[in-house]
Amino acid sequence: MNLFLLTMATLLLVVGEGTAERILSRRTKRELATPLHVGGIRDPYGSYCQRRGGCCPGRDDLCTVPYLDTICYCDLFCNRTVSDCCPDFWSQCLGVEPPFIGTCERNGNKFFTGQTYKENCNLCTCGVTGRWECEQHACLMEPDIIHAVNRGNYGWKAANYSQLYGMTLDEGIRYRLGTQRPSRTIMNMNEIQMNMDPLTDRLPLYFNSLEKWPGKIHEPLDQGNCAASWAFSTASVASDRISIQSMGHMTPQLSPQNLISCDTRNQGGCAGGRIDGAWWYLRRRGVVTEDCYPYVQPQQTPAEIGRCMMQSRSVGRGKRQATQRCPNTHNYHNDIYQSTPPYRLSSNDKEIMKEIMDNGPVQAIMEVHEDFFVYKSGIYKHTDVSFTKPSQYRKHGTHSVRITGWGEERHYDGTSKKYWIAANSWGKNWGENGYFRIARGDNECEIETFVIGVWGRITMEDMKNHHHHHRRRHI
Ligand SMILES: *[C@@H]1O[C@H](CO)[C@@H](O)[C@H](O)[C@H]1NC(C)=O
Ligand SMILES: *[C@@H]1O[C@H](CO)[C@@H](O)[C@H](O)[C@H]1NC(C)=O
Repeated sequence: MNLFLLTMATLLLVVGEGTAERILSRRTKRELATPLHVGGIRDPYGSYCQRRGGCCPGRDDLCTVPYLDTICYCDLFCNRTVSDCCPDFWSQCLGVEPPFIGTCERNGNKFFTGQTYKENCNLCTCGVTGRWECEQHACLMEPDIIHAVNRGNYGWKAANYSQLYGMTLDEGIRYRLGTQRPSRTIMNMNEIQMNMDPLTDRLPLYFNSLEKWPGKIHEPLDQGNCAASWAFSTASVASDRISIQSMGHMTPQLSPQNLISCDTRNQGGCAGGRIDGAWWYLRRRGVVTEDCYPYVQPQQTPAEIGRCMMQSRSVGRGKRQATQRCPNTHNYHNDIYQSTPPYRLSSNDKEIMKEIMDNGPVQAIMEVHEDFFVYKSGIYKHTDVSFTKPSQYRKHGTHSVRITGWGEERHYDGTSKKYWIAANSWGKNWGENGYFRIARGDNECEIETFVIGVWGRITMEDMKNHHHHHRRRHI
């Protein structure tokens, strides 16, 4: 009876909202929709599809007839899961008896054939035999994996994130990463030569950019369901570097959206992209700040990229100027920031450390495995917890992040664990306030394979101008 009331309420809602679009969008999602012809409102004697004058092949969302205070369908699509077919659909359109309606149980409630519910990332449907039939996808948040990590002695802890709950592992890999592996040519890019003097280049056991450069290191961002880590890691490393290099005269948070929407040559926007392309764009075209060109989290997946709203033109000496206003209602400064060509560091952890300490955070490519999504705290290392599961539970994809420091955890037994501190782009409630620590020195998840540093393009003039900019513009 409760179920019936719920259904009627849902149906009324659909009708109340009225527009065809609403009904269409509801129609693709039929979670917990009660079949119209069960639960006491079946009307076996009515003629609906017959009165309509026939049935529609395939899917036709306009192939409807008024039914009680809503509508029912006479297209073959309605038969897919049973649910919104008109009562005479089977006899009129298929010439068969209406299907037998089984009942399934869940939490003491009765459900009918065709009804569904979602169990984490899997849709379960009540089958004709009265049994729940569930999809078998590996989920992004698997309780087993979380428990196994937390029970084990892996050196890190896992958590269940509500913002990732309900996604499949495949969706996580498809929508939360988004850096293509660099091409072989780029991978063969020369590493810069660093001559380290073991006496003068003493590296501390712990180093954190946030402490050396307060106010110049930008907070971790949130890419949402947009596979554009290529744009997020590039923009955030460039932001930190420009702030450090200008000694705080400029502390721009550069706009990932500017890259996503405008750096479209051989780039996939929210479907993934290459960091070498992103650096090329920052160097040749430049980008504005996040305040000026804010990030719009995609509401749908796969995400739409959005039209490019910002162009720049040369104003001499390699500098560029925006030709449009900021695409937002407030009027922020549309200064264009550019970088020099990026340079590649060696994979030696000491050289990477020296670079971070001297010049600021670096960008790194890494392979993200299934257990990384549930990381909460500690020193991450890819675990074997899903090794006993079917292969669909073991997946990985390429991502890029910003390394901001390092440390070493000493244990009583005399051993120690070395780690990197890195900023991810999955929001500040993921990991350690948006950051994570990962084993250092063993190329864990290939994080030491391809590491990039860069300079901002800053002149003495910039340092003076930017200092006065704000005042001048506001008068
Ligand atoms: C419609 O539903 C019936 C009963 O569930 C099924 O036997 C039949 O194959 C379905 N027809 C189509 C076209 O899906
Ligand atoms: C994980 O979080 C989701 C959503 O917040 C919740 O529904 C689910 O019960 C949680 N699972 C576990 C194992 O804690």
